[in-house]
Amino acid sequence: MGAVLIVDDMEDLRYSLAHVIKKEGYSVLTASTGEEAADIMRSNIVDLIFLDIGLPDGNGIQLIGSLKNIAADVDIVMLTGTNDAKSAVISMREGAVDYIVKPFEIVEFKAILHRIMQSRIIAKKALLDHQDKGLDTIICSSRAMLAVKEKILSASEVHAPVLITGETGTGKELVARAIHDVQQPKGGIFVKVDCGTLAANLIESELFGYEKGAFTDARADKKGLVEIADGGTLFLDEIGNLPVSLQSKLLRLIEDSVFRRVGGLTDIAINVRIIAATNSNLDREIRQGNFRGDLYYRLNIIPIALPPLRDRENDILLLADYFLHRFAREFKRTIHGFTAAASAALLKHAWPGNIRELRNMVEREVIFCKSGWISLSGLHQDAVFTGGAENRLDLPLKEIEKRYISKVLKAVNNNKSQAAKILGISRTTLREKLQIDQFPIS
Ligand SMILES: Nc1ncnc2c1ncn2[C@@H]1O[C@H](COP(=O)(O)OP(=O)(O)OP(=O)(O)O)[C@@H](O)[C@H]1O
Ligand SMILES: [Mg+2]
Repeated sequence: MGAVLIVDDMEDLRYSLAHVIKKEGYSVLTASTGEEAADIMRSNIVDLIFLDIGLPDGNGIQLIGSLKNIAADVDIVMLTGTNDAKSAVISMREGAVDYIVKPFEIVEFKAILHRIMQSRIIAKKALLDHQDKGLDTIICSSRAMLAVKEKILSASEVHAPVLITGETGTGKELVARAIHDVQQPKGGIFVKVDCGTLAANLIESELFGYEKGAFTDARADKKGLVEIADGGTLFLDEIGNLPVSLQSKLLRLIEDSVFRRVGGLTDIAINVRIIAATNSNLDREIRQGNFRGDLYYRLNIIPIALPPLRDRENDILLLADYFLHRFAREFKRTIHGFTAAASAALLKHAWPGNIRELRNMVEREVIFCKSGWISLSGLHQDAVFTGGAENRLDLPLKEIEKRYISKVLKAVNNNKSQAAKILGISRTTLREKLQIDQFPIS
């Protein structure tokens, strides 16, 4: 999106430049003195400043340094009153990126405006290219998530198990990988075990391996995922689904760092970092006898609870912007940002599928965006934002249920198990509901 600050004591000029900048799609701030400009810079994020040289409270050239002190990465273009080559040169030496001589044509002004704003977007993208490892992969500015980053750092200093909890799409796997990256910059691999999708009868041999003869098909020894992860990280996703019979085996692995292959008679020593994740309520599973309390306490040495996106208000637009740049680059599209109305809609939405939902939505919007700006109408066309069935008082319950299920399915890209989790029903129940009703997407 981008914000531009005009610092000039001539009201007419401020007014007409502000008008041009707004029309070009950037937000605009104005100041008539150096002091006012500094105040604005302290409370706003500004990308570009057009700075007059002859200000009532001092020389604009002398302001360059102090404005850059407030925001080091701001770009400054000088507005020189006369064709004064000398002050232009001095300004550039002080850190201005360009100058423009008054009086100027609007086309000339627009060209500079676009050139600088575009190059900032490109620089931002280049920055994103480097954010592919460790803590930098977690985009956030909310206090809750900054605290999570600190926890990741302290978790990486010790070897104790970590239990990550949070709704679907809140970034549990992302956090697990970040812990691994911070702790093991080189060597040691990250092995993910999805306890939710592995068949219960296969999970033991997948996890712990087997020895020749352990069962009919075991014709040779086979290493399990635990052994493959030796020296690295074992990420147990959806730990709540681990069969009770294997929970004691896992407990032993955590407590004594040893395990036995299926059919094995000797202990194998292992050194792995255990990270478990769940979006189910383990307390309830323990009460119902589906999860061992002692394993829970052993896993929960370092608990990391990820807040849902709707409780991270500061992160919504930041993440939206991040995904926008990422997908615009991936699909080679020029998209400047979200319109103000679209941003407001993003903030209002409840995000049941959390960051994954936001990511998928931005991806679709980028693909279908024609104007260079993602607008509210674009969002309204998106099924996630339409329906609003729950606000209607003239619909039968069955219809509301149907619409809501559609909405959730769309939000999670039609992933049935995630949708079932969000809806708080089993996958079987969801499947039944989908069979009974005619769903537009399924
Ligand atoms: N803070 C963040 N910054 C950038 N990307 C994020 C962030 N949080 C989540 N994501 C992205 O959102 C998507 C969902 O995250 P992830 O798979 O880690 O969620 P999860 O909690 O494991 O979900 P589930 O419970 O459904 O398995 C991924 O593409 C991930 O990269
Ligand atoms: Mg996950």
